[in-house]
Amino acid sequence: MDHFTYRDGTLCAEDVPLTQIAAEVGTPVYVYSAATLTRHFNLFRQALDWTDHLVCFAVKANSNLAVLKLMADLGAGMDVVSGGEYLRAKAAGVPGNRIVFSGVGKTAQEMRQAIEGGIRQFNIESEPEMLVLSSVAASMGAEVPIAIRVNPDVDAKTHEKIATGKSDNKFGIPISKARQVYAEAAALPGLKVVGIDVHIGSQLTDLEPFRLAYTKVAELTRALRAGGHEISRLDLGGGLGIPYRRDNTAPPLPIEYGQVIRETVGDLGCEIEIEPGRNIVGNAGILLAQVIYLKEGEGRDFLIVDAAMNDLLRPAMYNAHHDIVPVAQAELGASLREMDVVGPICESGDTFEKGAQLPQLQSGDLVAFRSAGAYGAVMASEYNSRPLVPEVLVSGDHFAVIRARPSFEEMLARDTIPEWL
Ligand code: LLP
Repeated sequence: MDHFTYRDGTLCAEDVPLTQIAAEVGTPVYVYSAATLTRHFNLFRQALDWTDHLVCFAVKANSNLAVLKLMADLGAGMDVVSGGEYLRAKAAGVPGNRIVFSGVGKTAQEMRQAIEGGIRQFNIESEPEMLVLSSVAASMGAEVPIAIRVNPDVDAKTHEKIATGKSDNKFGIPISKARQVYAEAAALPGLKVVGIDVHIGSQLTDLEPFRLAYTKVAELTRALRAGGHEISRLDLGGGLGIPYRRDNTAPPLPIEYGQVIRETVGDLGCEIEIEPGRNIVGNAGILLAQVIYLKEGEGRDFLIVDAAMNDLLRPAMYNAHHDIVPVAQAELGASLREMDVVGPICESGDTFEKGAQLPQLQSGDLVAFRSAGAYGAVMASEYNSRPLVPEVLVSGDHFAVIRARPSFEEMLARDTIPEWL
């Protein structure tokens, strides 16, 4: 459920008509609903209310400071994967002891930064990384909590580019090797083993891969404890999918996901961490765009809008589907027209949907790309020298620009022409 609904014939974000945002901020623009974000975060919290837990929002899904501040005020922890994300979490007011640092390529510099600023735990992805963290921490006189990310070799049954839990993916340590690596970790200075970490992929629409992976984590917990390791925390990653099509059967709910966690690892007495991103913010955002032209091609019509693949990369990158809806509610029974919805960028991959069925639209009409709050603005670029897409946050009947559209002057000012040219 989200808070983007038609009222008096116009699509609104909570109580604000999208026409008003388009008029005041321009298009393209991302629009987020604070009430939807809050609702989704609370669903995860409720799903784990049977145990000690921390819901760590995956910052990579949407790293706008205002979104992070909203999450932080609700009590969220954060899962970060770079020094930049770490700084964003801190700037949004998240205390270090609620920040988990994941990612396969943490540099010594990033480790130092997080140890200085405070950190809940590092999720270790390889032995070389573990050795570097040990020496960085020891040189600072620190002892840092770590979990080791294990790769359970489970098929997440999702798009291959976002599956992370198979042995041929770059992530984690093979679970078969885990006992040996935990023994090495226990002997290293500067590290304190506190738990196990796992994340098998994103946009999972089936709970069985989670069940398989978490069952393996439970077995490993018992084995490690028997070997003398203190395992008090399990970080079970993110990945629960969202509905991208209104007419689709919806993926499982957070409460059902929480039940799988309870059934697989619930009896171990561990504190549970999860790292959802998409499920919290995906359907809390839309990309608002305007029709530039309706171009009648040979046997094919093209709806050319002012948003493009640089603003929302997912369709070009993963063949992802985002429902496209007119902001002005179509008359019931209005005749639909088949068209390809495309952006202005000079490559054919700049296509949002082929053969979309849309009502009659013309230049100046507004459309919304739904389910665009996660991995939308964060993956935007300035390709074709298009200014980075702005973002707006709505709460009730008011809204704020939470990232302004850069001016062309600002864009150009970042480049320098060397004096010898
Ligand atoms: N934790 C770790 C370690 C991750 O790598 C990810 C996502 C998450 C948590 C959050 O997963 P979520 O709950 O959002 O599924 N750009 C792609 C998605 C990449 C996901 C990468 N890792 C897309 O647009 O579909």
